[in-house]
Amino acid sequence: MIHVTAPGKLLLFGEHAVVYNRPCLVTAVNQRLSVKVEKTDDDNVMISSPQTKDTRFVDATLKYASEVLGMKVSGFHISTESPFSGMFGFGSSSAVTVALLHALSVFSKTPLDTRTLFTHAYKIIYSVQGVGSGFDVAAACFGGTLYFVTGGRVIEPLAFKNGLPLIVGYSGMKSNTVEIIQQVAKKREQNFHTVERIFDAIEKVVNEAKESLTQSDWKTAGKLMNVNQEYLRDLGVSSEKLETLISAARQAGAYGAKLSGAGGGDCMIALVSDEQRENVKAAITKAGGVVVDVLPNSFGVRIETSDDQTEEFVVVDEKDIVIDYKSRSECHHDKSHIHRGIGLFIFDDHGRVLLQKRSLSKDTNPGLWTDSVGGHVLRGETYEQAMRRETKEELGIDISFQFHSKFIFSYPYETEMEALFTATHNGPFYPDATEVETVAFVSKDELQEKMKTDEIQLTGFAQEALKRIGFLQ
Ligand code: MEV
Repeated sequence: MIHVTAPGKLLLFGEHAVVYNRPCLVTAVNQRLSVKVEKTDDDNVMISSPQTKDTRFVDATLKYASEVLGMKVSGFHISTESPFSGMFGFGSSSAVTVALLHALSVFSKTPLDTRTLFTHAYKIIYSVQGVGSGFDVAAACFGGTLYFVTGGRVIEPLAFKNGLPLIVGYSGMKSNTVEIIQQVAKKREQNFHTVERIFDAIEKVVNEAKESLTQSDWKTAGKLMNVNQEYLRDLGVSSEKLETLISAARQAGAYGAKLSGAGGGDCMIALVSDEQRENVKAAITKAGGVVVDVLPNSFGVRIETSDDQTEEFVVVDEKDIVIDYKSRSECHHDKSHIHRGIGLFIFDDHGRVLLQKRSLSKDTNPGLWTDSVGGHVLRGETYEQAMRRETKEELGIDISFQFHSKFIFSYPYETEMEALFTATHNGPFYPDATEVETVAFVSKDELQEKMKTDEIQLTGFAQEALKRIGFLQ
């Protein structure tokens, strides 16, 4: 059984303009839609979607997986579960499409990297809805908070040093996104220059908000929210109820507030200080809204269950003699269980080293850069067999490599007997979206530079290993 979850999203800035080749800022939320795919004995496909009667996106995903991607799409039981379904405008259609397509690709042993997953999932959504910029698909795939331009022309993750202090209020009314997009399209047809000027102004707000949010300048970002809201009002997509909640939040001391999404209903968001948080929540509730308990900047699509928990690691003494086998969780909670790990550094013909950025969904060192491939040796495997398996799983390639050295490395929570390998390969690579956010070749000089500016933050293990192979001083 494969269990995959994908996050819902909230649009922070730039709705509607993003449909017309402008940028927006979107954040993935910690409410997740879940898809389970289980093999059955017959050749039918059974779908259980208790929260929604609308299986258009599941149907379209199955059709696309079979007809376009050539996957075998039969003999499954698919079940979906959503804490938000169509409510709130958190994007259940995109989340279900992304989660299901990812599950199917993993099931058929052809996992898609995140960018490819985005491209296919966006095509599926577009084929059903006929409208939409794809920002919600990107949030479901990549997670975090993204600067996004229509169709995924730019998908840039933003880093926040101090979180994102948001409050979300539900207006109690469901909005019909497709209908509202069509209304705006009509308005644009009738008043082309005026509407285009509004979109240009929104684009400016989005670009300024990108700066202020990443610098935790909440005051400026709050003001920009208010400005963005005025433009949305000019487009005619706000509603009386949303306006009431927005002004209640502002009066209670929020830095700023606006609607989030297509408008007409669904949610509003407010940017608040810690001190004002409770006041703003109370004000939204008093004004007739429902405060939705949700956190921004959550991780993207990921596999929730694999065999990881039952996997047994090889426990050794300090001379690397096997003394026991223990589960992943036992090894990761007791530093006395030295267990076998592996690390590979791949070089290209220019002598640059391939580093991988760990996915934000990893429980240890999320978002940090590390060895080209890393992992653990499982019971019954040699170091080399484990290295070959991990290289296939993480980068989708089968290459030859050379043993470099072996050493004990201690993390805060575990101790590993690490076998280090090196290889030469120029790509292409097919990174597994659940493990790896991206991979990149860097030269010695580039690495030094990027480490200075924090553009690359290495894991402790990668620092040690790169020193050992003479790539870092
Ligand atoms: C809807 O949540 C946001 C819109 O910009 C539509 C889209 O970008 O797909 C109105």
